Amino acid sequence: MTNHPWLQPIVFADGRALPTRILPGPMEGVTEGSFLSAMSKRHFVNAWFTPFLRISTAVPRRSRLQRWLEPYLRNGTPVIAQLMGVDSARLASAAAILHGLGATCVDLNCACPSPSVLSNGGGGKRLCDPDWINRTLNAMREACGNRAISVKIRVGFDSPEELPAIAAAIRNAKPALVFCHCRTVRELYRPISDGRQRLAKARDLLPDCLLIGNGDILCADDAEAMRQKCAVDGVIAARGLLRNPALLRDIHDHCLDRPPTPLSDSERLDFLRDIADAPEQGPGAKHGFVLRIAAGLYGHDSALFHELARCRNLRQANEYLHRLNANVASTAAPCIGKDPS
Ligand SMILES: Cc1cc2nc3c(=O)[nH]c(=O)nc-3n(C[C@H](O)[C@H](O)[C@H](O)COP(=O)(O)O)c2cc1C
Repeated sequence: MTNHPWLQPIVFADGRALPTRILPGPMEGVTEGSFLSAMSKRHFVNAWFTPFLRISTAVPRRSRLQRWLEPYLRNGTPVIAQLMGVDSARLASAAAILHGLGATCVDLNCACPSPSVLSNGGGGKRLCDPDWINRTLNAMREACGNRAISVKIRVGFDSPEELPAIAAAIRNAKPALVFCHCRTVRELYRPISDGRQRLAKARDLLPDCLLIGNGDILCADDAEAMRQKCAVDGVIAARGLLRNPALLRDIHDHCLDRPPTPLSDSERLDFLRDIADAPEQGPGAKHGFVLRIAAGLYGHDSALFHELARCRNLRQANEYLHRLNANVASTAAPCIGKDPS
């Protein structure tokens, strides 16, 4: 048993737990389908954080929520289920159902910067109304009893100067966890230079909350720097998983004073093959998602990416990947010029 604080479980009031404090970030359009199974099969995550489920005109039926949650629960790891919306009562009712279905924690998304989400007043727009955050977390708690609720925020909508008011609302509501991405909503995903100072400020403002830091963790050293400079209680990494699906394992190993284990050529190719192997997709299905994951694993400039881009659909992409052998895939130069169809 190690003493590293990030390797300690988070045990909630109802006895449910997250095994460590090193978690995958939610990514709509990514952490689902074949990515979910490829990651779970390799034990690259020990808990899942779902992308947001939008609660708009009505609380979805239990059966619909069950269908949505099931792919995450199926892996047997604890699940943080994320909700987004503007109606506190509906969010609270949906949260209670999700807990009943087996979610370990239900999270309130106050972070999403997507224009369509913001135009409906949801996601990151909620940061403009800290009282709403407070009311909604309290409504969720009332509906969920001693089950865990959390909130995911950015450090502000327009400016990090908004953080004290947001933090005051959160302190008062006492969620079990706070996930904080170091950018403002306006900053989208643009580079910032003072992310760690901002998270350190969040730490000061939320001294009694379990604060999980987020933003720009691409390797174990980034996570360590965040831990040292921001004193966060854990970390979630999102886009870094696209480059290195084993990133959370590397961070875990770092906490054990072990070096990272880079994926071998064949592990990388196997991972991509699993992404392309999506039996639920029809024969003519597009392979945009495979390209996206290939770009993360091999780079946009790689020959493998270019060859995949020439495939016309998922079936061709699959055939191409199964013809490759791993050391060719990592250089992939010899594949150029061959017609993948
Ligand atoms: C494609 C994509 C989809 C995302 N979807 C969600 C989402 O559904 N819910 C959420 O809270 N954050 C979402 N995020 C934000 C990430 O969870 C994370 O907060 C952000 O990317 C910063 O972390 P990173 O630098 O480790 O990527 C998404 C990010 C990306 C790139």
